[in-house]
Amino acid sequence: MSGLYIHIPFCRQKCRYCDFASFAGAEQQIDDYLNALEKEASLYAETRFDTLYVGGGTPSLLSVCQLERLVGLIARYFGPLAAFAESTLEANPESASAEKLHLLKEAGFNRLSLGLQSFDDEVLRRIGRIHDASVFLTAYELARKEGFENISADLIAGLPGQTEQNFLAGLKRLVSLKPEHISVYGLQIEPGTPFYQEGVQTDEDLLRRELEQTHFLLEQSGFVHYEISNFSRPGYQSRHNVNYWRNGSYVGLGAAAASYQSGTRRCNVSSVPEYIHRMRRGQSPTDFAETLDAMAKEGEQIMLGLRMREGVRLTARQQQLFARPIQKLISRGLIERKKDIIKLTFEGLFLGNQAFMAFVAPFETE
Ligand SMILES: C[S@@+](CC[C@H](N)C(=O)[O-])C[C@H]1O[C@@H](n2cnc3c(N)ncnc32)[C@H](O)[C@@H]1O
Ligand code: SF4
Repeated sequence: MSGLYIHIPFCRQKCRYCDFASFAGAEQQIDDYLNALEKEASLYAETRFDTLYVGGGTPSLLSVCQLERLVGLIARYFGPLAAFAESTLEANPESASAEKLHLLKEAGFNRLSLGLQSFDDEVLRRIGRIHDASVFLTAYELARKEGFENISADLIAGLPGQTEQNFLAGLKRLVSLKPEHISVYGLQIEPGTPFYQEGVQTDEDLLRRELEQTHFLLEQSGFVHYEISNFSRPGYQSRHNVNYWRNGSYVGLGAAAASYQSGTRRCNVSSVPEYIHRMRRGQSPTDFAETLDAMAKEGEQIMLGLRMREGVRLTARQQQLFARPIQKLISRGLIERKKDIIKLTFEGLFLGNQAFMAFVAPFETE
């Protein structure tokens, strides 16, 4: 499996919690950015990809004309969109117009990921979103009308102003719309974001209760919990993301986009002007690259695989290399082992980062 990711680093307004590489008020750079993407895409023209994910930022912020250009360049270098096993575009409710959704569906996108975050208008305002719940509902209905049969929606648990009751009411409301996929992330307070600067704190107990309730409610409603933060109707797991967690190869195009091929990971420069400048001059967009050594490669595969609910099957070599940390994590109740498969326990789901640390350098081998 191999995935193609295209990053669109533009947003109308920056949300107060977000530290993704995305910039507000830079719309005038989009046309130059598309030219740069076209150049980078040409470097991979001979490569075949199974899945496509256009993420951001806010891909739906592009005008109809710019979306046509984007679709055109994908088709030119990587073949018709309909040929990808899965092709997702991330859209924000306020910019997912009927005209854009129509174009995207016609072009061959078969999956839409909509950012909702919360169904509570007061919470949405507090976190800096520029849509309310009714705008999300309109976008969702439009997407169905245009024929999208695979829609995912994102929620965040632990947001300021949120209560357990209104979070669960929102989740139930979302379930009643029957999306094929739901992602529920626990709020992360990232350095450099307005939330961090304001000293917003996560209420860990509230977050834990909300995530526990999420698991029970979604499983009762027929969703499969297949990755720490991801739930889908049977058969609707995100193939593109599963490829990441199964340590498959992928290429990322655009500013800040990451790639992983044959044990080497690379990341492009995150500055949009710098990315455009480098592509214009025919320079490499890579900011850093590293080739993992054998141990780091094995550790990475386990760490990513542990995110999946079904866990990860260990090779004999991995069992030997990581015997001690695995034993420690089992005794702390964070992972469980059945024959050669290890997976997070229910407790481990909430403390995943502590489990993952064991598989990242510096390694504990004694
Ligand atoms: C790459 S973002 C972009 C999605 C799209 N622009 C939007 O806002 O709907 C994907 C998702 O990550 C989640 N996310 C972003 N920042 C987060 C944070 N600090 N804590 C938890 N979830 C976050 C949000 O649910 C968001 O929808
Ligand atoms: S959450 Fe989405 S819309 Fe908000 S700043 Fe981040 S990428 Fe942009």
